[in-house]
Amino acid sequence: MKIAHFSRWGFLMAAAGSAVGLGNIWKFPYITGEYGGGAFVLVYLLTVVLVGFSVMIAEMLIGYLGRRDGVGAFEDLAPRHKERWKYAGFMGLSGTLVMFYYSVVIGWIFYYITLSFGTLPATIPEAEGIYNNLMTQGVGTQIFFHTLAFMITTAVLIRGIKGGIEKFNLVLMPSLIMIIAGMLVYAMGMESFPKAVSYMFNPDWSKLTSEAFAVAVGHAFFTLSLGMGAIMIYSASLPKDSNLVRASIFVIVTDTLIALAAGLVLFTFLFQYGAEPAKGPGLVFISLPAVFHAMGLVGNVLAVLFFMALAFAGLTSAVSLVEPMVQYLIDRWDMSRTKAAIAMGTFFYLFGIVAIFSLSAETSAYLTWGGKSFFDWSDYLTSNVFLPFAGLVMAVFVGHIIEKERVASVLQKDMGWFYPIWRFSVRFIAPVALFVVMLNLMGFIEF
Ligand code: PHE
Repeated sequence: MKIAHFSRWGFLMAAAGSAVGLGNIWKFPYITGEYGGGAFVLVYLLTVVLVGFSVMIAEMLIGYLGRRDGVGAFEDLAPRHKERWKYAGFMGLSGTLVMFYYSVVIGWIFYYITLSFGTLPATIPEAEGIYNNLMTQGVGTQIFFHTLAFMITTAVLIRGIKGGIEKFNLVLMPSLIMIIAGMLVYAMGMESFPKAVSYMFNPDWSKLTSEAFAVAVGHAFFTLSLGMGAIMIYSASLPKDSNLVRASIFVIVTDTLIALAAGLVLFTFLFQYGAEPAKGPGLVFISLPAVFHAMGLVGNVLAVLFFMALAFAGLTSAVSLVEPMVQYLIDRWDMSRTKAAIAMGTFFYLFGIVAIFSLSAETSAYLTWGGKSFFDWSDYLTSNVFLPFAGLVMAVFVGHIIEKERVASVLQKDMGWFYPIWRFSVRFIAPVALFVVMLNLMGFIEF
């Protein structure tokens, strides 16, 4: 099996590029708004530290030791029952269903970049009109921009690890970080900044329902790209003698800082112009454009930069969402990279079109079940069920199945005194926590 190697910095940017995505800038602020701020943010942060960190190391380890596609890695590393563990690898791939809607949202962002060059909507109702119109009537526009997102993603994947994924991330990630950091500095100078800080960090525990809890945990997995083989497949290309602990810390810290910065920027802008934080998925597409309009010409510049940063974040994650399947086809089906990238890209592209139709006025009725559209189901099932479940399996695999010595040989030296703590966490804390979340989700327990 021929797997290319990232450079050290290339890996860090690619893994951070996977983690920092629409989850950080689009989803995190709107779910924080929906679930009432502080308490939700704290549960998310706690999950990142207590569970995300140990599962991130576990997932990296499987990729690093396996050095091949996700399914093959499970098979090779399982000391016994290899054919059964293969299914764990497949399950890891199921999170790729995120891609059923992800590239559609990147398409919306492209559309908003074009809007930002012209006149932005002056009021929230006007902005709401544009957004709703795009969702319910704008099938053609959405397909056009979704196609663009698909073409960029596939082109990067065709060029492979070094010439495609690494290069793409080395350019886009630093640009994205600079834009968000610049906007944070700008927001800090505004009167409403302290209000945004208190909204995000002052917990009101009465707002923390069972559902909010599950969504916060699911989001921690989603935003760290855990449980779907993305981090795993990138780690298969890590240079030898890499320090997985340092790499995990880098990815987690970058991801968390970008999410918090994006949240602070957004809420500051919204509060400054009297807009509502609880607007749902339309938050950055409805409230924000109206706020940018109120800022005048600066607003247009900020809008273009903001939506560009969002597009960069989305594209680097989209690439990592498709790559596990591409590598699988290359390894298992002996396909060339070009064929595999086009095949997988097209597969997701077509489901993306279904997602678009599931929101459109004429067709949504045929593509909605139990009150959720195909689009919503892809999001709900992946973030709240598949990713945490696959994360649970990965933790169990590394904690209980792979030979102890093998795990220790990679991690013990880099971790030192922390090694037993991590091991305890990956063997017991993470699985139990995730199991409780699954029970909660299935409605067996309520709190
Ligand atoms: N982490 C990405 C985000 O926050 C989404 C993602 C999930 C990417 C799972 C890869 C794997 O948007």
